[in-house]
Amino acid sequence: MSHLQTEQHGTIVTLTLNRPDKLNALNASLMGELTEAFRAVDPRKARVVIVTGAGKAFSAGADIAEMSGLSTIEAKALSDAGHVLGSLIESFACPVIAAVNGVALGGGCELALACDFIYASETAKFGQPEVNLGVIPGFGGTQRLARRVGIAMARELIYTGEIIAAERALAIGLVNAVVAPGELLTRVGGVADQIAAKGPLAIAQAKRAMLCGVAGDMTAANELEAQAFAVLFGSEDQKEGMKAFVEKRKPAFEGR
Ligand code: COA
Repeated sequence: MSHLQTEQHGTIVTLTLNRPDKLNALNASLMGELTEAFRAVDPRKARVVIVTGAGKAFSAGADIAEMSGLSTIEAKALSDAGHVLGSLIESFACPVIAAVNGVALGGGCELALACDFIYASETAKFGQPEVNLGVIPGFGGTQRLARRVGIAMARELIYTGEIIAAERALAIGLVNAVVAPGELLTRVGGVADQIAAKGPLAIAQAKRAMLCGVAGDMTAANELEAQAFAVLFGSEDQKEGMKAFVEKRKPAFEGR
């Protein structure tokens, strides 16, 4: 069953994560579909891609139930798949805008961070709560959050796992604008139309130049993140953290 809805109106493509009963958690199937959807977009016919979520969430992150039993090798592969998707979006030929309609947590926040910029609904919330599960962000969050909001703020958010409201996300530069929930897609559509009216080659080159400037050694950094993410899947804390989530109880971490 498909968990992704794709629509194209003129040159604007909208990809809607459509797994609302699980708050659009990114399971392997949805990650695969999203990756394929980006590969299937014809850059000659699309000027802007919008990514949003169906229901009350943007995405509550990687699917914890699916991830909980992974070995370190499998966790490395999962993190690598997240990096492939993130890099695909980040280097995509036209701008990609995240229209964050609800929670964007963990991998959901990382997905939004891979987009060119984020517009958020007043009801949106952002965070990297992986430390609550005994792991770290594995889809580029340790790198892209710092590049977006600065190293000190990124450290605080990642070390505390704090979940912040849209207005706070605006204040720290994580999002470009906060919009009334009913107006989010209209506002993002308006910005997309504005971009789509400009020279597409100029937009593509601007995107490329800015990416080269800020990316630095993103490949090496992603590799380091994937290794660190995977190593944690050899710990008891990861098992306890994810088991506790699935069993709906507080985790008891032992540091092992
Ligand atoms: N992976 C898998 N399933 C998830 C999920 C995730 N990341 N986040 C939510 N879900 C599921 C829940 O298990 C629940 O499924 P169920 O109805 O079959 O029990 C459903 O989505 C609804 O979530 P629920 O927790 O009941 O909603 P809520 O409104 O009470 O809480 C959150 C919302 C976002 C605070 C809570 O779901 C949460 O903390 N999710 C995990 C966030 C996270 O740690 N993400 C990082 C992953 S690395």
